[in-house]
Amino acid sequence: MGAREMAISLDGVRDKNLMLLKKLNTVLFPVRYNDKYYADALASGEFTRLAYYNDICVGSVACRIEKKEGGELRVYIMTLGVLAPYRRLGIGKKLLNHIMDLSAKQGIPEIYMHVQTNNNDAIAFYKKFGFEIKETIKNYYAKNISPPDCYVLSKSIPAPQK
Ligand SMILES: CC(C)(COP(=O)(O)OP(=O)(O)OC[C@H]1O[C@@H](n2cnc3c(N)ncnc32)[C@H](O)[C@@H]1OP(=O)(O)O)[C@@H](O)C(=O)NCCC(=O)NCCS
Repeated sequence: MGAREMAISLDGVRDKNLMLLKKLNTVLFPVRYNDKYYADALASGEFTRLAYYNDICVGSVACRIEKKEGGELRVYIMTLGVLAPYRRLGIGKKLLNHIMDLSAKQGIPEIYMHVQTNNNDAIAFYKKFGFEIKETIKNYYAKNISPPDCYVLSKSIPAPQK
């Protein structure tokens, strides 16, 4: 483990600290998330995490576990973000690795997310971890968000070696 990663830890989200996730989202994302987002995040259990840098809550990942038509599960990353002063310290990596490890352990074969087409930081970040752009959706976001288009990025997760 590198020295800079020593101070990073992850914690679960419960009713008691849900406010922290809400606060982070207001700072990090242009979208106002509704009650369903928070219900899905809580229901995903270990797939939703807060990231701490020493004692400060500076990032989060929130997922929804989806069932495809054939019954197969997949993980949808609803949000993953780190406060700007704490970026490039490996915190996003720790959050994403957590999701990829859990998916592999639980035999969930795919992780995907939507990313606004101008979000070069996030696109570079996800590509670094093997995510690929699968399609572009025009006018995905509300009209007051510019550009309104997004990419769908996804990654296949190999089943764990027995
Ligand atoms: C995308 C985001 C989560 C990355 O978090 P982070 O903590 O800075 O990421 P890490 O430090 O773990 O980066 C891991 C690797 O990803 C790549 N990477 C991360 N940010 C990058 C950037 N801005 N440009 C190029 N590569 C980048 C690098 O290879 C980096 O490794 P390195 O720092 O050793 O070079 C962060 O920029 C963010 O919160 N953005 C705003 C919210 C957002 O748009 N989230 C995504 C949509 S849900």
